[in-house]
Amino acid sequence: MVNYADIRKYMAEARDLYNQHVIDTTASFHTEALTAGEFAGIAAQDGDPYESYAVLADKRFAGYVLFCPFNPRQAYKRTAEVTIYMKKEYHGTGMAMDAIGFIEMRAAQKGIKTMLAKITAENIPSIRFFQKAGYRQAGILRDVGEKFGRILSVAIYQKDIPGK
Ligand SMILES: CC(C)(COP(=O)(O)OP(=O)(O)OC[C@H]1O[C@@H](n2cnc3c(N)ncnc32)[C@H](O)[C@@H]1OP(=O)(O)O)[C@@H](O)C(=O)NCCC(=O)NCCS
Repeated sequence: MVNYADIRKYMAEARDLYNQHVIDTTASFHTEALTAGEFAGIAAQDGDPYESYAVLADKRFAGYVLFCPFNPRQAYKRTAEVTIYMKKEYHGTGMAMDAIGFIEMRAAQKGIKTMLAKITAENIPSIRFFQKAGYRQAGILRDVGEKFGRILSVAIYQKDIPGK
């Protein structure tokens, strides 16, 4: 059973999960672990209309999902960026797909029309995941990052979400 809760009650678990990816993977372009304050700045979306949730398996923290501003300039207000991180033991359970559907519903209710996901081009599981969720590639930023000695590109995936 998937539940959603205020991320603020699960900030330590969420930061641990994110920092594992900072240290071990190219899913994040941070290269140094974030402090509690730094992580709160990116993960606790509380400015209208943006929201962040912990994803719970029964009552256990399984991951987090959020939508945040794509760009602060007012004309971009119809567009938001989605972020999702799930703990490894919950991969392949379908919970992430449920969470994407949930956050799209919340975003649509807040007037967002277009969702974007920025995904490291070598992160094939994530690209497949977003494709399966109905996102299509809108563009690719070539060779914009470097981590672990590898030059990295970023794919931008986009989905129009129906109004609720
Ligand atoms: C992206 C992420 C949330 C997907 O979670 P997940 O648990 O694998 O997703 P689900 O089980 O809900 O959905 C599975 C679908 O995603 C795709 N997928 C997931 N892992 C895959 C893999 N290793 N190879 C290929 N496709 C994969 C498939 O289309 C799969 O559907 P299928 O099982 O019917 O083939 C998870 O991999 C994750 O947390 N990654 C680290 C953080 C990250 O990269 N976030 C994205 C940037 S915002």
